[in-house]
Amino acid sequence: LVRLRPPDWRLDPVELAAAFSTRTKLVLLNSPMNPSGKVFSRSELSMIAEHVVARDAYAVCDEVYEHIVFDDHEHLPLMAFPGMAERTVRIGSAGKTFSITGWKVGYVTAGAQTLAPIAKAHQFLCFTTPPNLQRAVAFGLRKADDYFTELRSTMQGKRDRLRTGLESIGFGVAACEGTYFLNADFAPLGFVGTDEQFCRHITEHAGVAAVPFSAFYPEPIESTFVRFCFCKSDQMLDDAVDRLRAHLA
Ligand SMILES: Cc1ncc(COP(=O)(O)O)c(C=O)c1O
Repeated sequence: LVRLRPPDWRLDPVELAAAFSTRTKLVLLNSPMNPSGKVFSRSELSMIAEHVVARDAYAVCDEVYEHIVFDDHEHLPLMAFPGMAERTVRIGSAGKTFSITGWKVGYVTAGAQTLAPIAKAHQFLCFTTPPNLQRAVAFGLRKADDYFTELRSTMQGKRDRLRTGLESIGFGVAACEGTYFLNADFAPLGFVGTDEQFCRHITEHAGVAAVPFSAFYPEPIESTFVRFCFCKSDQMLDDAVDRLRAHLA
């Protein structure tokens, strides 16, 4: 693991280099990243690609939030970097791109040689697929660019709506460059307890659920951040803010 740290979640070149060895076969990368909301920059991706090529390794890139990036951030697939096309497996999700999370239909993109064993493994592990949902996703993937740009601007509006609401209650809200998650610090509200206790508290007393940030770490950490999700109707976001305000303010 190469740990990224708030508030800017920058990839440290020294820590990245130290994570590679002669035994490195595979790198896992998630960008835009859940839960940090970070979108990896061109220079960070270029660094990762150079290491992967130098070690003759592969990369599996979870890019399910590829179309949900904000402001002047740009999603750059690692696969498009020099030398990476034949050694990268890119994962996309219809759930995220077409707002149908319950479907659990996604897709992988890879060079033919890399894809052959993946198709075989899929055949033996999953066996069944929902062909008509797949047809619908194929239809969606052929949509004109305006669908994808509208998704982006709609989500950015929801991000700003929830941010404004949470800040008006007194939460400290972290930057969100992509994904549909906002991380909020409850410390300024004066709540005494862990992030898990805070999440349990607002779920039970305000009827609003969030995920404690510590849940995303392999070892116990102290955190006063919780992750809210904003891929909801504007009405639901406003209701959630009202409930939190009534309970916490
Ligand atoms: C980073 C990341 N990868 C993959 C998934 C799974 O996506 P799906 O449920 O569309 O298969 C999620 C869903 O939350 C996610 O956040």
